Amino acid sequence: MTDYIVKDISLAGFGRKELTIAETEMPGLMSLREEYGDSKPLKGARIVGSLHMTIQTAVLIETLVDLGADVRWASCNIFSTQDHAAAAIAEAGVPVFAVKGQSLEEHWDYLDRSFMFPDGPNLILDDGGDATLYVLLGARAEAGEDIIPVPTSEEEEAIKAQIAKRMAASPGWFTKTRDQIVGVSEETTTGVHRLYELVKEGQLPFPAINVNDSVTKSKFDNKYGCKESLVDGIRRATDTMMAGKVAVVCGYGDVGKGSAASLRGAGARVKVTEVDPICALQAAMDGFEVVTLEDEVASADIFITTTGNKDIIRIEHMREMKDMAIVGNIGHFDNEIQVAALKNHKWTNIKEQVDMIEMPSGNRIILLSEGRLLNLGNATGHPSFVMSASFTNQVLAQIELWTRGDAYKNDVYILPKHLDEKVARLHLKRIGVKLTELSPEQAAYIGVKPEGPFKPEHYRY
Ligand code: NAI
Repeated sequence: MTDYIVKDISLAGFGRKELTIAETEMPGLMSLREEYGDSKPLKGARIVGSLHMTIQTAVLIETLVDLGADVRWASCNIFSTQDHAAAAIAEAGVPVFAVKGQSLEEHWDYLDRSFMFPDGPNLILDDGGDATLYVLLGARAEAGEDIIPVPTSEEEEAIKAQIAKRMAASPGWFTKTRDQIVGVSEETTTGVHRLYELVKEGQLPFPAINVNDSVTKSKFDNKYGCKESLVDGIRRATDTMMAGKVAVVCGYGDVGKGSAASLRGAGARVKVTEVDPICALQAAMDGFEVVTLEDEVASADIFITTTGNKDIIRIEHMREMKDMAIVGNIGHFDNEIQVAALKNHKWTNIKEQVDMIEMPSGNRIILLSEGRLLNLGNATGHPSFVMSASFTNQVLAQIELWTRGDAYKNDVYILPKHLDEKVARLHLKRIGVKLTELSPEQAAYIGVKPEGPFKPEHYRY
């Protein structure tokens, strides 16, 4: 029996060819295969992956397998799957459940399927926290406890329905599965936020590694990744001329910095909104006008949310926008834009993940990926090279949890700085970077070892 759900398995050949290109751009992952391919440190690990099923993720999956792990995979977003990548992984024999454009019900069903190792999973590799949330909420439900709120009501209904189905089919499954998990590594800001909340509530039942806050993740993927993939998504969706347009970027954290740079690089006139005075000052000193959304809403052409927060672009904003304003989100969840409030308006689907919505005034807005992260919904996400840095951290985190999990409490940890520096080091040769070496005298003078780590923990890059 085939143990996968993909759109079209005949796309596997195309996926495999694109994997060949990606592998040459992912030196971190490929050198982990060289370093650990023989010793197989992940032997015995049964990893549930819940992360965008892209070509880059396929290289991650095959690295985990090469290091000895059994892997089952689902995408963490209904629009982000690259069907040829999923097909290539399925054909290689890894159970994967991911289709671009799957429904929310399918999203949770596929996630459930990715847990179905014959002996159950023992590790989670998460992006946004859905896999962790699923098992924890299910275990709470089995204990007769209330389940904690999840980001959108639509999502809450779908997850509750899936939990009820699994509870009926396999009583006690969630609790047993939760108790078998030795740890989770989490990819993104929003998922990490959920983990810290769980710790605060005393609800985290296993150790977690916060991959997002490795410097070689958030200061690269979130920033330089979005710098390339934001405009890519807008262009593929709309073919609009970016130069000269006024774009408003909501939020100037790592993703906001990359997004503003992306739009500026394309020639747009970029404005930024922020709530944090430090990030607002950064935006201003990077040369962006810092404004409020209310002041710009009637005149700007493009609106992008990057906050990881909810209700940023609200219905009253969209009602005021000019005709054919483009609205999109690059943060993890779709609740940054009040999409639900648009449901009773007239929608015209232009093409996959591009909708034109008529407002009461007669003005239309173009909504990208129904408010879900547009760089993965409308384009193919970040380039391989930057994802190599993120995913090298992921693999190191999985090895750490699997081989030394006992050394950790049920708390959230960041990988040590020497591993962060190692991830960066693995990516230098590919782009011809030559490092200067510290002399022993220089190292002693600044109080570090000549081979690093080069910075104290509090250094912010
Ligand atoms: P961050 O915390 O560095 O930045 C978010 C910024 O938004 C902060 O500076 C915050 O002050 C600001 N903000 C919060 N509420 C606001 C409001 N009402 N108005 C204006 N600004 C507001 O987080 P980061 O790392 O930039 O991530 C943002 C989101 O993007 C998260 O959901 C994360 O998971 C997601 N993400 C998406 C990626 C993608 O490829 N699409 C890649 C990496 C992260």
